[in-house]
Amino acid sequence: MPYELKSARYLARDILLRAVRPGDTVVDATMGNGHDTLFLAGQVGPEGHVYAFDIQADAVESTRKLLAEQNLSDRVTLLCRSHAELVEAVPAGVAAVVFNLGWLPGGDHSITTLCASTEKAVSAALEILKPGGVVTVCAYPGHAEGTRELEMLTDRLASLSNREYNVLRHTFLNAGPGAPECFVIQKNF
Ligand SMILES: C[S@@+](CC[C@H](N)C(=O)[O-])C[C@H]1O[C@@H](n2cnc3c(N)ncnc32)[C@H](O)[C@@H]1O
Repeated sequence: MPYELKSARYLARDILLRAVRPGDTVVDATMGNGHDTLFLAGQVGPEGHVYAFDIQADAVESTRKLLAEQNLSDRVTLLCRSHAELVEAVPAGVAAVVFNLGWLPGGDHSITTLCASTEKAVSAALEILKPGGVVTVCAYPGHAEGTRELEMLTDRLASLSNREYNVLRHTFLNAGPGAPECFVIQKNF
């Protein structure tokens, strides 16, 4: 199959395929319908673990079903709580934290990730990363809260010390206004 430069999520997946190893502990900060959780559960293998967050019970239920169908439930902890509580819920030393911002596909568009809690959660994610670990954030500035999140992420991530982190911002330059973006932050070894 030819390589396709298709979407912000594909870019994040490419990075995660390299960064996440069998036995790792990782976090899906926005589980939604569970596709990223399932992918991460496959990557960490039977010795690894995934912590997945969502504030919507429907999202947790869809993900629970998806994992059960694939026999992967026992390597995932599903949390119906905000990713702003990441530090309280997840032990430090994770290999990756994955954010796919916005609303639940097929769900209520008024329930979306919010700038203030996203900022808190991204800071928490950076805190619990192990050396060499990565945070990926797919951001969608095609709506007002998404624009605020993109501006916050750009300012916050640009201010990180390059002695501690490397930060990449992937932009689809010819996709017009509102195109998704993918940020990748790696904690230095
Ligand atoms: C774009 S969807 C995620 C898609 C998902 N990664 C997948 O593979 O299907 C964003 C999700 O973030 C959730 N969300 C919104 N605010 C949140 C918060 N504070 N903490 C955790 N999840 C949140 C929404 O309920 C929604 O399900």
